This record gives sequence, structure tokens and C-alpha cells, in this order.
Amino acid sequence: MTNNLNEQTALITGASSGIGKATAEILAKQGIKLILLARREALLKELQADLSPLTKCHIVACDINNHGKLLQALADLPNEFKQIDILINNAGLALGLNPAHETDWIDWQTMINTNCLSLAFLTRQILPGLVKRNHGHIINIGSIAGSYAYKGANVYGATKAFVEQFSSNLRSDLLGTAIRVTNVEPGMLNESEFSLVRFKGNQEQANDVYSGLEPLRSEDIAETIRWILAQPAHININNIEIMPIHQALAGPTTVKNL
Ligand SMILES: NC(=O)c1ccc[n+]([C@@H]2O[C@H](COP(=O)([O-])OP(=O)(O)OC[C@H]3O[C@@H](n4cnc5c(N)ncnc54)[C@H](OP(=O)(O)O)[C@@H]3O)[C@@H](O)[C@H]2O)c1
Repeated sequence: MTNNLNEQTALITGASSGIGKATAEILAKQGIKLILLARREALLKELQADLSPLTKCHIVACDINNHGKLLQALADLPNEFKQIDILINNAGLALGLNPAHETDWIDWQTMINTNCLSLAFLTRQILPGLVKRNHGHIINIGSIAGSYAYKGANVYGATKAFVEQFSSNLRSDLLGTAIRVTNVEPGMLNESEFSLVRFKGNQEQANDVYSGLEPLRSEDIAETIRWILAQPAHININNIEIMPIHQALAGPTTVKNL
């Protein structure tokens, strides 16, 4: 089977910043048609305009946790975007870094809803079309936090363990089809809003996490996604774990300590 990326359509969740936006930029260069989903419409429109010389983009300004609105947006996709070949489940977040007994329950709910429930909901909507056409690729953005514990990761790490196991189990169910599933597990990554969101807008705390080390950049993960998609159709990259050179397991190590 051929794997002509320039004839395909990708739905990227969380496309308004960070990894999702960088992935849209790289996939646009491959000529892949893009459905860009996030809550902040203005940022999606800006990205759509930037990418317009490279490819066609359709934007979906929607909270992924609003399943009614999400279903309507999928039903309302213009004809040329209806046949989704690639689903990149990237929208996600960590909230807080407090020990479990001092966390905000609402934060836990938001992480579980966004990182697990809505990822599964959207996947469930897209899967029948992929199976019917016996073609496609689901790329889930997990995290090394799904494999290694660190202080304050509590529910965030658990949601990413869900993403890893959900990806493996999808592979089991899809065995015998041509559909591929990959779990991408980045380590520490800056140049996204991840840390700012985790610390609820406190820029100083957000920056502090990366002091003395060189984290991954969003385009590093976007380039990895491009590479995963470009593999010959008989190859499935199951899991891929990527850390900055300054990180080992989940503990950051500064250059001074190396
Ligand atoms: N940065 C890291 O260190 C790191 C490491 C490992 C894994 N990851 C994972 O990588 C993914 C992307 O994170 P990032 O680093 O690129 O952070 P980011 O810049 O904060 O991007 C998160 C994206 O998700 C979207 N999003 C969040 N909640 C949403 C909702 N309810 N509905 C729709 N869209 C929503 C945001 O858009 P709107 O706000 O516009 O909705 C944004 O586009 C996440 O799953 C994260 O867990 C990040």
C-alpha cells in the first residue's frame, strides 16, 4: 500500500500552540490538508492564514470537552475534509505540581476529561471511518510522565499512562487492518504553553522548571511525527520516548551535574 502524505487529511487537536501548532506547520509542508482544533479561534485563524500558501486548512474552534459541539463540528466538516486519514490527539494539559493531598479536585477532573475522556471520545468518532477505508494513522501524544513517576505528576502522569495503554489496546483491536497507532512520549519541552498552563499563568514558576537545562522544542516532536507518518505502510512505530539530553528518566539533570 502507498503512503502518499500529500493526498491525506489530518485532524490535529490542540493546534493553537506548542506541539500541535508546530506539527501543523510541518505537515502543511508535506501538503497534508489540515483540520485545526483548539478553543482559541483567533490563534487558529492566524495559523490558517500563515499556512494557506502551503495547504488547505479548516478550523474547529471548540472545547474538546464539549462533546455535543465536537460532534456537530465533525458533522459540519466541509466535504473535502470529511475523510480524515490522520488523527493527532495532542490537546492536553497538566495542572499544578502539588502533592496529591494538596491538589485541586477540579484540576484533576479537567486533566482526566481532556487527556483521557475526550481523547477517547474523539478517537471513537474517527475510528469507524478509518476501519471502513482500512487506512489511517492515530498518533496520540502521551508523555514520559506516563511511564515514570515524579513528584507532583500524580493525576497528570496517570492520564498519560492511560494514553499509552489505550494506544496499545487500539493496536490489538486493529490488528489485521492497515491502520497504525503510535504513542509519542516527549520529555521536558519548552516553547509551548505547557508550563505556563500548569502554573496557571505564573511565568516565573513556568520558566523556573527549565532553568539550567536545554529542553526539547515543539518542532522536535513535530519532526518526529512527520517521520512516524512517513514510514512505509508495513511499519508501525508503537511507542517513541524522546528526552532532552539534559534529562534522564523523569529527573532533570543540569549540565553542571553531568
Ligand atoms: N510541554 C511538555 O513538557 C510536554 C511533555 C510531554 C507531553 N506533553 C503533551 O503534549 C501535548 C501538547 O502540549 P504542549 O506542550 O504543546 O502545550 P500547549 O502549548 O499548552 O498546547 C496545548 C494545546 O491543547 C489545547 N487544549 C487544551 N485544552 C483544550 C480543550 N479543552 N479543548 C481544546 N483544546 C485544548 C490548547 O489550545 P487552546 O487553549 O486554544 O484550547 C493548546 O493548543 C499535551 O498533551 C501535553 O500533555 C507536553
